[in-house]
Amino acid sequence: MSLLEEHQATDLEKITGLSRRRFIGAGALCGAAMFLGGNLLTRTAMASAVSAGNGALLGFTSIATATSDTISLPPGYQASVLISWGQPLQAGGPAFDPSGNGSAEAQEVQFGDNNDGMSLFPFPNDANRALMAINNEYTNYRYLYAHGGSPQSAEEVRKALACEGLSVIEIQRKSGHWHFVQGSQYNRRVHGNTPIRVSGPAAGDALLKTAADSTGQLVHGTFQNCANGKTPWGTYLTCEENFTDCFGSTDAALAFTPAQKRYGVVAASKEINWHPHDPRFDMARNPNELNRHGWVVEVDPFDPTAMPVKRTALGRFKHENAALAETGDGRAVVYMGDDERGEFIYKFISRDRIDHHNPKANRDLLDHGTLYVARFDNGDGNPDRPKGHGQWVELTHGKNGLDASKGFASQAEVLIHARLAATAMQATRMDRPEWIVVSPKDGQVYCTLTNNIKRGDDGQPVGGPNSREKNVYGQILRWRESGDEHGAMSFEWDLFLVAGNPSVHPGQAKGGSSNINPQNMFNSPDGLAFDDAGRLWVQTDGDTSNAGDFAGMGNNQMLCADPASGEIRRFMVGPVGCEVTGVSFAPDQRTLFIGIQHPGENGGSTFPEHLPNGKPRSSVIAISREDGGVIGA
Ligand code: FEO
Ligand code: CA
Ligand code: CA
Repeated sequence: MSLLEEHQATDLEKITGLSRRRFIGAGALCGAAMFLGGNLLTRTAMASAVSAGNGALLGFTSIATATSDTISLPPGYQASVLISWGQPLQAGGPAFDPSGNGSAEAQEVQFGDNNDGMSLFPFPNDANRALMAINNEYTNYRYLYAHGGSPQSAEEVRKALACEGLSVIEIQRKSGHWHFVQGSQYNRRVHGNTPIRVSGPAAGDALLKTAADSTGQLVHGTFQNCANGKTPWGTYLTCEENFTDCFGSTDAALAFTPAQKRYGVVAASKEINWHPHDPRFDMARNPNELNRHGWVVEVDPFDPTAMPVKRTALGRFKHENAALAETGDGRAVVYMGDDERGEFIYKFISRDRIDHHNPKANRDLLDHGTLYVARFDNGDGNPDRPKGHGQWVELTHGKNGLDASKGFASQAEVLIHARLAATAMQATRMDRPEWIVVSPKDGQVYCTLTNNIKRGDDGQPVGGPNSREKNVYGQILRWRESGDEHGAMSFEWDLFLVAGNPSVHPGQAKGGSSNINPQNMFNSPDGLAFDDAGRLWVQTDGDTSNAGDFAGMGNNQMLCADPASGEIRRFMVGPVGCEVTGVSFAPDQRTLFIGIQHPGENGGSTFPEHLPNGKPRSSVIAISREDGGVIGA
C-alpha cells in the first residue's frame, strides 16, 4: 500500500464511522494533527472579558472588540505563527526578502501570499505528522515590489503569479508543539504558471482553446484561490474566485461579449494590470484564456508529482468554497457559492457513488454529475429571522429550455457560462454567497451572505433570505434539505443571524437579529467552519473603520455560535487591516489553525514580526489553550 493509499484508507475509516448523510467537507473532517509554531504571539489575558457565559456548548469567555495590531483571544488561550508569506519551502531555499526585490523564481519555491482556505491531511499511523494544503489568494503590490506599484515587466507579473495558487506543506509535532517542516518531500507550490489538466464536460471545448493550447485541456496556472474543500477520498479542492480581475485589454475600445461582461472583465483590469506585460491576460489577444479560469481545482496533496485537475462539471463562476456532503445512496454532493453581488448558490451531485474502499476509484468522480442552482421563495417576512422554502433547479443542456434557443450549444457552454444558465432558470440573486458548511450534527447547510450594498437596486429585490435593503452588514443563511437528504430537490431555509449594529442603529432594520447585541456585533461574515462538537465558527472580512455604521466593531475577527440557541460570542480579533479567513481544526480539536490575510492592507501593521519598519506578512497561526483543552469548550 502506498503512502497515499494508507493515508486515504485511514481517512476513509474515520468517515465510514459517520452517517452517510453527514458533512465530509472543509470544516469538520479536516482533521489531521495539530501544530504549534515557534513564535508565541500572545498569551491573552490581554483581551478584556465582557461575559463569562454559562452555555453548555460555548465554554470560553467572550472578548471585547479591539483595534490593536495583535491577536486578541480569551483568557487561557495562546497563539503562535505556523508559516508566513515568503518562507522558503525547501532546505536551503531562498529566504524571504522584505525589500521587495526578491525574484519570481524565489517566490515560486516560497510560501505563497494572502493565505485563505486550508485543509489538513493526516499521515497514517503517525499522529505527529500531517500535510496542510493552503490557498494563496492574491498579492499586495504595496509589499510585493520595491516600487510598491503595479507590475512593470513580464518578470514582475511572473512574481505576482508565483504568489497565488496554493502551498502544500508538511507539519510535525515535537515536544507538544507543531512546526512547519522545511525541506519535506511533500512541500510544494502550485501557482499561476503550474501546468493543470482540464477535465469534465467542458474539457476540449472550442471556448477553452487558445494559441498556446490547441487541445483546450491544458491550462497554465490557478490564481485568485479563495476557499477550499476536502473530499472523502483524500484530495483537496481549491476554488478560483476573482479571476476576471486578472484580465484586461490593450485595446481599450474592445467590445466585450455579454458573457464576458457578466463575468465582470473590464479593459482596465481593476488595477491588477498583468495584461500589458503578459499577453495571456490580454483579452484583445487571448480572449479564451478567460474561460480557462473560474473553476474548482482538485489536488492530491500526498503526490507532489500529480498534476492538478480543473473539474469543469462543477461550473465556472467566482467560486468561494466547496462543501462536501453525501446523498443517502452514497453519491458526492458539493455545495458552492458564487461571491459577487446578486450571484447564486449551486450544488453538484455526482453521477456515481463514492467508493469508500478504493480511493483511487474516485479519481474522476467529480467529472460526471449534475449541477443545480438554488431558487428561494420570499419567506414569511419575519423581521427578525425570516424563514421559507426553496428548490434546486437543474442546469443541464436540453432540459428546462437550456438549449440553443437560449444560447447554449452544449453542456460545455452551460458550464462555462453557468451564471447565464442560472439566470435563465430564474435562480435567486443572493447577497454575495461566501463560505458554505454542513453541520456534522444535523446536516443543515449554512452559508454566509457577506453583504450587498446593491440590494434593492439593480434588479435585486429585497426579500426572502436577502431581507435587507442596501445590506452593509451581511447575514448567515441556513437550510435543511427535504428529508435531511442532500440529494433532495427542495429545502426549508431560515436566517441564522442577521448582522448589524444595535449600538448605532436601534431596531432590527440595521441593528441586526435578536441574537446580535453590542457585545458580539460584527459585519461581513465570510469564513465558516464546524468543529466536531457542532460549534459554528464565523470569520469576518468587513469594514474595519470602527466608525459610522461600523462603530464599535473593531478589526476583523472570529466568532463562535451555538447553532441550537443562536448564542454568539467573540473568540478572536485580528491585527490591523487583516481579514480573518481559512480555518482547520486538529483531529483532537485542541489546536485551531486560522489565516491572517493581508494584515496592514493599507499600512499600519507590522504583524507578525513587529520589526521596526517591518513589512506585514500574511500568516497561518495556531491557537491552543494553555491547559491543552478542547478549543471553544
Ligand atoms: Fe475570497 Fe469571497 O472571498
Ligand atoms: Ca472569503
Ligand atoms: Ca469576503
